[in-house]
Amino acid sequence: DPSRKVDQNTKNHQLASFREDPKDQYMTTDQGVRVNHTDDSLKAGSRGPTIMEDFHFREKMTHLDHESIPERVVHARGSGAHGYFQPYNDSMKEYTKAKFLTDPNSKTPVFVRFSTVVGSRGSADTVRDVRGFATKFYTEEGNYDLVGNNIPVFFIQDAIKFPDLVHAIKPDPDNEIPQASAAHDTFWDFASLMPETNHMLMWVLSDRAIPRSFRMMDGFGVHTFRFINEAGKSRFVKLHWRSLLGAHSLMWDEAQKLGGKDSDWLRRDLWDAIEKGDYPEFELSVQIVEEEDEFKFDFDLLDPTKIIPEELVPLQPIGKMVLNRNPDNFFAETEQVAFHPGNLVPGIDVTNDPLLQGRLFSYIDTQLNRFHSSNFGELPINRPVCPVHNQQGAGFMRQTINKGKVNYWPNSLGGGCPMMAPENMNGYVHHMEMVEGHKVRARSASFNDHYSQATMFWNSMTEPEKKHIIAAAHFELGKVQSKEVRECMVGQFHKIAPEFGKSVAEGVGVEVPTNFEQELTGNYKDNEASKMMKKGKS
Ligand code: HEM
Repeated sequence: DPSRKVDQNTKNHQLASFREDPKDQYMTTDQGVRVNHTDDSLKAGSRGPTIMEDFHFREKMTHLDHESIPERVVHARGSGAHGYFQPYNDSMKEYTKAKFLTDPNSKTPVFVRFSTVVGSRGSADTVRDVRGFATKFYTEEGNYDLVGNNIPVFFIQDAIKFPDLVHAIKPDPDNEIPQASAAHDTFWDFASLMPETNHMLMWVLSDRAIPRSFRMMDGFGVHTFRFINEAGKSRFVKLHWRSLLGAHSLMWDEAQKLGGKDSDWLRRDLWDAIEKGDYPEFELSVQIVEEEDEFKFDFDLLDPTKIIPEELVPLQPIGKMVLNRNPDNFFAETEQVAFHPGNLVPGIDVTNDPLLQGRLFSYIDTQLNRFHSSNFGELPINRPVCPVHNQQGAGFMRQTINKGKVNYWPNSLGGGCPMMAPENMNGYVHHMEMVEGHKVRARSASFNDHYSQATMFWNSMTEPEKKHIIAAAHFELGKVQSKEVRECMVGQFHKIAPEFGKSVAEGVGVEVPTNFEQELTGNYKDNEASKMMKKGKS
């Protein structure tokens, strides 16, 4: 369909139609009326009260009064960049029908937003934290969002724990301390009672959590997704971004000093590099698993606290992303961009990963709060570059002017001939996975191992990296006032790797607890689900 043809400039042209450059222009009101004086309000006498009829003053002030919107509940601080993605070849055709991944002649426009997770919009860039790495691909088949992080696993296995995690990791509800960083009683309290956090904690204590630059950071889709090919065959897939500059980190001491001297460090680095023409480049790779191999691993592919070791399933490179243009306006683009892991295009689908399933609800829900309207998809940065036609309409700030009387389906009055029925239009089809089961608030026993991959991570580290992890644990846990929490966490670390647990214990003034058996969290200990888990039933 030629009306859908996309190249790297398609999004730029679309955005250009919304751009406004005040240079060499008359100042006007929002209604386009020229302003002749903007330095004094209209008064009854030069020392008298301001007059209500001053429409210029009222409009100017009202606009400022309403210039803030809620910041993101997580990932509030971010930096964005435009660019494009181009596949190296058509090798993915065998696995997916997503055209932007299989046509080496296509350059799909992208917008990427890098972020920290915990701090508010004004917090420092250099804190120890996970970094978000979210990419919107404006493909000719619609928007596809890869909403990833720079760490390949997540803290929790089920989305229902996300509100607890976020409450525990965000500043304390009474005094809003600390602003950012994992140095936090409540976070370590939660983590020590939730052994499923172990694997990610190891990454967070490692140098990966203090990247040198957004340009020098890998990205991961985390969950197992599905690729679907032209014949409808499904395979499991993990998606990875590899920085072509390599992954580099700050030293903790550097990070802390930079936090004071230039808390915009990562933001400035990204902006300056793009201005200078040092365009950040990332390679997209995948690990593909055949459906029949779903159960051949000693972990569950649906468990987001696990990686698939590259020794078992190697990475296959797909193509390269180049970030080559800074945004024109932080608010209009970087702040208003709305990512959603459920923004999928034909050829890519989700799995039953219970964390991913919950995310599919959460992003739109939170964006309704952020934008106070269901029309945020029409904002310039969120608009697809291909045509959008449906019976949606109205609502706050609706921009599209839908013509005619007909805003329902089916219809014969609005050109809705049966040939145009959605089912005949080769649209998105959800993978027809067979699902069956008892309704039960439980977790599969195949999610129970919270230690092996944390241990694997520790064992894969070099000596200097191990020293950095121990030092980070001393710093973070050393700030925790509760001895019980420190002890409990040291118990977890000891189970992950005895020498690690002992080294941390020495630095934070506790003994390694004896007979430490913190397999399940308190809440899970005695309920039906945990009994089932203990019996090994799913
Ligand atoms: C942002 C929820 C897990 C990556 C957000 C936001 C919410 C959220 C509410 C704010 C979105 C907005 O205001 O536009 C959740 C839930 C999760 C979860 C409920 C698990 C149950 C994850 C995971 C990843 C991730 C596993 C990485 C794979 C991101 C990123 C952003 C984000 C990168 C920032 C997007 C941007 O730059 O605008 N998440 N999240 N999240 N999340 Fe998650």
